[in-house]
Amino acid sequence: MKHLDLYAKVESYIGFDEAYEELYQIYLQKLSQYKIDTILDVGCGNGNLLLHLQKVYNAQGIDISHEMIQIAKAKGVDARRISLDKLTQKYDALLAVADVLNYFDADELKQFLEDIEKRLNDGGIFICDINTLFGFEEVTAGSLSIDKENLFIAIDSEFEDNILETKITLFEKEGDCFTKEQAEIVQYYHKIEDIEAMSSLKLLVVEEVALFSDISDKNLLIFQKELL
Ligand SMILES: C[S@@+](CC[C@H](N)C(=O)[O-])C[C@H]1O[C@@H](n2cnc3c(N)ncnc32)[C@H](O)[C@@H]1O
Repeated sequence: MKHLDLYAKVESYIGFDEAYEELYQIYLQKLSQYKIDTILDVGCGNGNLLLHLQKVYNAQGIDISHEMIQIAKAKGVDARRISLDKLTQKYDALLAVADVLNYFDADELKQFLEDIEKRLNDGGIFICDINTLFGFEEVTAGSLSIDKENLFIAIDSEFEDNILETKITLFEKEGDCFTKEQAEIVQYYHKIEDIEAMSSLKLLVVEEVALFSDISDKNLLIFQKELL
């Protein structure tokens, strides 16, 4: 996933860490309300949440980006690059944190939710967060540039027809020259009722989260696989 690998390379410069830490605390608080031993963090990224999770739970992470997995593994967490549909193990809880669901179009999301359900134990829970329309229109859309001694990053995001297109450009100094890498990431706005209708998971909780603004830019959702 080359475009996600470029995101992995620039993420630490964007400055999400503090806000994401706040988000992780919400997840940890929610998880503490359920009886859970095993957890899979899907789209675990740089492994920062896994560092918290592994203190309490039997926690593993997966991500599609090779670069992200390298960053996560260097922190000593149990993370690997494998797609969710290739797994066979079941877990008490699955997580998709920091708008992972928005990386999928409607068809991909339906398949992803089916795969989530397959990997959950009966009664198991799936917790995720998605960007609200406000989050897409007012928080993520726009331009950002980061100028450091040895690198320059430009990020341009446009939101139109419920699709966010983010162009990332990275210039890195190598000797007297700069190398240039570019990638585009696409994210999709999904309504909660549409997500709910895509699987037979039961939607237990919808909560507003205001992470980057005073207005809710994310919704936290908790689903449960029916107890047989
Ligand atoms: C915004 S980042 C969030 C990362 C992490 N959950 C966190 O809290 O920092 C989204 C992550 O989803 C991953 N991702 C995107 N599509 C994926 C897929 N199909 N399967 C697994 N991971 C995916 C990306 O590589 C990226 O690491």
